[in-house]
Amino acid sequence: MVELTLPKNSKIQQGKTWPKPEGATNLREYRIYRWSPDDDENPRIDTYFVDMDDCGPMVLDALLWIKNKIDPTLTLRRSCREGICGSCAMNIDGSNTLACTKGCDDISGAVKVYPLPHMQVVKDLVPDLTNFYAQHASIEPWLKTVSPQPAKEWLQSHEDREKLDGLYECILCACCSTSCPSYWWNGDRYLGPATLLQAYRWLIDSRDEAKGERLDNLEDPFRLYRCHTIMNCAQTCPKGLNPAKAIAEIKKMMVERRV
Ligand code: SF4
Ligand code: SF4
Ligand code: FES
Repeated sequence: MVELTLPKNSKIQQGKTWPKPEGATNLREYRIYRWSPDDDENPRIDTYFVDMDDCGPMVLDALLWIKNKIDPTLTLRRSCREGICGSCAMNIDGSNTLACTKGCDDISGAVKVYPLPHMQVVKDLVPDLTNFYAQHASIEPWLKTVSPQPAKEWLQSHEDREKLDGLYECILCACCSTSCPSYWWNGDRYLGPATLLQAYRWLIDSRDEAKGERLDNLEDPFRLYRCHTIMNCAQTCPKGLNPAKAIAEIKKMMVERRV
């Protein structure tokens, strides 16, 4: 029989069950992934009970309630609390989403909260996004031009501006990339759906003059072509965007420039 040795700190253990708040009559159970690099312990799942009569309706509200009233060591990222900054992305009830826009009432049973999957964890619910941001920077996400600078601004027709709809709304939360099996296995070389959606956003911007250079940068067996149209990305995007479609459009551009 094959014996496998798990890497150190890879096994998730049952953690602590924290006491229920006294006097609360509307309790909700939360099971939350905990891991700290500061001790030598395995990750664990801690159980907390939230008084929903004293807490806002979103999962982020409950996490902050726990942090403020029960356990200040619980670590997470958040900023805007309205689905704009992308920093509260995590895995809730089995799907990658934003904690600030996910309603507790949309989940049945105990609310299970984990960090975004297949990423290094900095602490608790905070993933390490260094590689993700470096990949985004690698597609040079800004307007590139060679024409002389206009006196006032680069103009764009209404029709051309509309081509950016469904793309510019991306908040770089990484929910899509961390739900993509191709990104799980080749995240060091495959750019992933979020970065490729952004790449397409610049490729079809009528004001940009670096299309050829941008396509050259993507022409690689791994950077673009690891997408196998599995569609997890479009299913999970909390902003309702479709990175898989953007990737298909880039592949079409690659073909068109060859003929
Ligand atoms: S495409 Fe959607 S899921 Fe992906 S990073 Fe952008 S907003 Fe997040
Ligand atoms: S469609 Fe492509 S990018 Fe989206 S999840 Fe599937 S393989 Fe990943
Ligand atoms: S806190 Fe900004 S998107 Fe959730």
